[in-house]
Parts: sequence; C-alpha cells; structure tokens
Amino acid sequence: MDAIQIALLGMGTVGTGVVKILANNALNIEHKVGTPVVIKKILVRNPGKVRATATDAEMVTNIDEILSDPDIKIVVEIMGGELPAKDYMLAALKAGKHVVTANKDVVAKFGRELFAAAEASHVDFLFEASVGGGIPIIRPLKQCLAANQISEIMGIVNGTTNYMLTKMTTEKMDYGDVLAEAQAKGYAESDPTADVGGFDAARKIAILASIGFGARVTLDDVYIEGITNIGIEDIEYARELGFVIKLLAVAKQDDRGINVRVHPAFLPTTHPLAAVNDVFNAIFVRGDAVGEAMFYGRGAGELPTASAVTADIIDVARDIRHNVSSRILCTCFEHKTIYGVSK
Ligand code: NAP
Ligand code: HSE
Repeated sequence: MDAIQIALLGMGTVGTGVVKILANNALNIEHKVGTPVVIKKILVRNPGKVRATATDAEMVTNIDEILSDPDIKIVVEIMGGELPAKDYMLAALKAGKHVVTANKDVVAKFGRELFAAAEASHVDFLFEASVGGGIPIIRPLKQCLAANQISEIMGIVNGTTNYMLTKMTTEKMDYGDVLAEAQAKGYAESDPTADVGGFDAARKIAILASIGFGARVTLDDVYIEGITNIGIEDIEYARELGFVIKLLAVAKQDDRGINVRVHPAFLPTTHPLAAVNDVFNAIFVRGDAVGEAMFYGRGAGELPTASAVTADIIDVARDIRHNVSSRILCTCFEHKTIYGVSK
C-alpha cells in the first residue's frame, strides 16, 4: 500500500511536535501502521514565517487545498479556537476524511455535531489530546473502563495553572512573571484567560464527565472559578496551615444527578494531588468495578501533547491500512440532572 497522506491544520507548539515525532519515529510508526505516514500539506496563517523545524510538507493558507485533495485521508486539527476550526473539521468529516484534534474548545461545545458527522461519513473522529496533554485518559474512559459505572472523575487538568501555582509556591514567583513563563514554554492557550480563568479545565472536565457518565455535559453545566484571585499571600497562608493550593476539576454522579466544578482548593500536603507539580496533570477515576484508577503525566507542551495526537493518527492510519474501523464514537448521551452550577 502507498504511504498514508495526512494534513495538519496548524504548525504551532503542538503541530511542530507532530512534525518532529512523525519524522524522528518514522520507521517505528511505519512498522506499527504497515505503511509510512506522510504529512502532505500544512494549513497555516503565515506561510512565510521562519519555522525552527523543517518539513517537506507544502504550506497552504486555504483549507480547500486540503479538503479537495483526494490523497489526504486524515486531517489533524491543531490550530485551536472555536472558529474556523469547527467548520474545517466538519467540512473534512463531510468530505469523508478522518479527523484528529487536540481542540477541547470545539469538542466540549460542538462534540455532538462532529460525532454525528463522523458517524454519517463512516470515518473516525479522535481527540485524545484534548484532555490531559500526553496522558491517556479519553481512550481509558471510553474503552478500558467501559464496564464500570463511573461515580467520580477528579484531578488537575490544566498544566499552565499547575505550573504557575507550583512556581508561586516553591519559588515565590510573581503571578504575571510565571504566567509569561508558561506562555513562553507553549503551555498556555493563545488567550491565557482560558487557563487562569478555569475555562480550559472546565471544558476538559465537561468532556470527561460526558464520556464517563454517558451524559451531555457542557461548559454551562460547570461551576467555574479560576486562579486569578490567588496571590502569594494565599499560598503562604495555606503553607503555614499545612496545605497547598491546587486548581481542581471535579465531576461527581450520585442520586441527585451530576455535579461538575472547577475551583482552587486547599489540599493537605499529604494528599496525592499535592505532589503533582509543574506542568503535570493527574486524574482519578472511581468506578464500581475497578475502584480507583489514577492517570498521571505531562498535561501540556510540545512533545507530550504531540504524543497523544500522533497516537490518534497512528490508530486511524492502521485502520485505513487494514481497511477496518475501530470507531468508538460518543453518540449515546442520556439526559441527566445537573446540579450545583450557580455561584
Ligand atoms: P499555537 O502554537 O498557537 O499554533 C496555532 C497554529 O495554527 C499556528 O501554526 C497558526 O499558524 C495556525 N493557525 C491558527 N489559526 C489559523 C487560521 N485561522 N488559519 C490557518 N492557520 C491558523 O497553538 P498550540 O499551542 O499548538 O495549540 C493548538 C491546539 O492544541 C489548541 O486547540 C490547543 O488548545 C490544543 N492543545 C495545546 C496544548 C499545548 O500544550 N500547547 C496541549 C493540549 C492541547 P501560524 O503558525 O502561521 O501563525
Ligand atoms: N493550556 C492547556 C494547559 C494546554 O495548560 O493545560 C493543554 O490542554
């Protein structure tokens, strides 16, 4: 079989990581898929920009050059934002192309529409990197823990704020300086308000709650409080009392329904999440059969995120190569009561 050709929408932090992994691990990936995986085109805003990582792919600025190219089987959306990213993904799915994305904004808001489009076109729509960066969590929830009734999903799901809180605690760094550092490292969203305001974590916990509880949970269903009001003095006060401050995302399902929230919390220094520092994320899942399972790793950054994106590309490429479908879409959402949203 010929090489499987793909297109990237975006070559920023994550896109650069995908280009690097597909080049550096090309032989390994070819063995796993059964044929090479090659990036044919990359959609960018500014094709003239000098990029630190070289690629033979053609830089384009018009999505139609990708959508109308019959050689391109997989479209990888890593440009971010709601629009035009959602429209491009929808158009790609309708054109019969498989789609891989890291975009939690779009998955959290328009997931249902995209799953339906993927289903209608008999193609894959995978989004492992949308939550937890490099940590496997979407597939484990959808597949490995599918036998369980999930009662709780909780943890640290935003790398930027965890990095900031860690540096503010250990080095007493100023809020603005440490946010700038997280941005320079490529951890923050293009609008970092999404990170510090708690919205990024809220989108992620909404995605996890939707999958874990089999319910449609949107951003509007999440109580959200970010870290914008946390100062060094709060962190110092917590420390004196034997606590650390972490931004937690919590989703619970009980007799009353579903409760989903994001807020800073005082954790005893002995709590397992208190030791999750820097850009690391950790997610606990409680199921009736498995008990408690924990997922831990780098929650943001170039290569960790690209690791999850590239794994999705490999999965789809393998299916194309062997002419099978392992599509596990999230189309069965029950209506469930949501409580505790208003402040
Ligand atoms: P980024 O560094 O800002 O890169 C965005 C890329 O998309 C750039 O190459 C840009 O082109 C291109 N782009 C943006 N808008 C475009 C448009 N309208 N038309 C054409 N090209 C466009 O973003 P990133 O950090 O890689 O994040 C990408 C996605 O991954 C986001 O959804 C983000 O939430 C998600 N994500 C990021 C991380 C992380 O650690 N960074 C982790 C998990 C998930 P130019 O290069 O020409 O400007
Ligand atoms: N801005 C996000 C974070 C990127 O810091 O967690 C990973 O989704």
